[in-house]
Amino acid sequence: MKNLYVKNLKDYMGKEVEGEFYISRKEVRKKKDGGPYIELALADVTGSAPAVVFNDVESLDGIIREGGVFLIRGNVGSFNDTLQVKVLWARAVTEFDPRDYVKSTEKDICLMEEKLLSMVDSVLDPYLKKLLDLFFRDEKFMKKFKLAPAAKKLHHAFIGGLLEHTLSVTELARVVASRYREVNTDILISGALLHDVGKTEEYGFFPMIELTDRGRLLGHLVIGYEMVSAKIEELRDYLGGFPEDTKMKILHMILSHHGELSWGSPVVPQTVEAQILHFLDNLDAKVWMFLEARGLTKDPMARWSEYHRGLSRFVFFGGGEEESEELFP
Ligand SMILES: [Fe+2]
Ligand SMILES: [Fe+2]
Repeated sequence: MKNLYVKNLKDYMGKEVEGEFYISRKEVRKKKDGGPYIELALADVTGSAPAVVFNDVESLDGIIREGGVFLIRGNVGSFNDTLQVKVLWARAVTEFDPRDYVKSTEKDICLMEEKLLSMVDSVLDPYLKKLLDLFFRDEKFMKKFKLAPAAKKLHHAFIGGLLEHTLSVTELARVVASRYREVNTDILISGALLHDVGKTEEYGFFPMIELTDRGRLLGHLVIGYEMVSAKIEELRDYLGGFPEDTKMKILHMILSHHGELSWGSPVVPQTVEAQILHFLDNLDAKVWMFLEARGLTKDPMARWSEYHRGLSRFVFFGGGEEESEELFP
């Protein structure tokens, strides 16, 4: 985590500060005397603040780039009653925590990872267990998986959102599997863990959550299908085979988890585990949106949410009394 956030700059009025910021805007302009100066916007997850470069303009123009993170030293002052930082020195920063710049999960990522791995370890089928290990015990994959969002807007649209959503769907799958004896628990848990792995490549999340070219052109169902197929082929060489039935059932769950052709699945769920996964995926996303509606509503005493686009409805919270006199004056 960085040491100075935009929201705290006001506490340093009249002082020199040094901190890391994302440059969300850079414009070279001309002063009245014709000399150049630079206008900047310093940003992080807490907001953005205007900044200017009046000294050393030429060399700082060569260093500071829009769309990068920089260590900035400058004086905090004000201009036209608005806080403004006068930049004195800057250096590019290559190693930083994206959670300092993009909204992230409120839950503990390490704890969620631990819980997810205990779900992986609960799978008894040796082929599925190996397949899951190839994903969730691969440091490179997990680095992406732990930071990826689950969506651009609809649900869990923040850093860590994919991990939070996948864990939630898998924990729900465990509960449902214990209720129906006939359900293949290993298939259901494995499908739940793997259903959205394609999202690690569907979204970029810095400096904002955005679809990648691959995400836009292929979507996470096809990307996930490719990723899991490739790992199964790897395992086939390593283990000397992989049961065809298991392979088909897992790949089917990835392709069918949106539930309907009109919701982007090329096939509808045709196994009980795939059908359950679709319901749980939908359940987790919808419950999240209902809960989110409360946070999005500006008036904390409101009995109704504002119109929720993802749910296409207003959400009722209740509380207080409806003003009947106003309805029938
Ligand atoms: Fe999905
Ligand atoms: Fe999902």
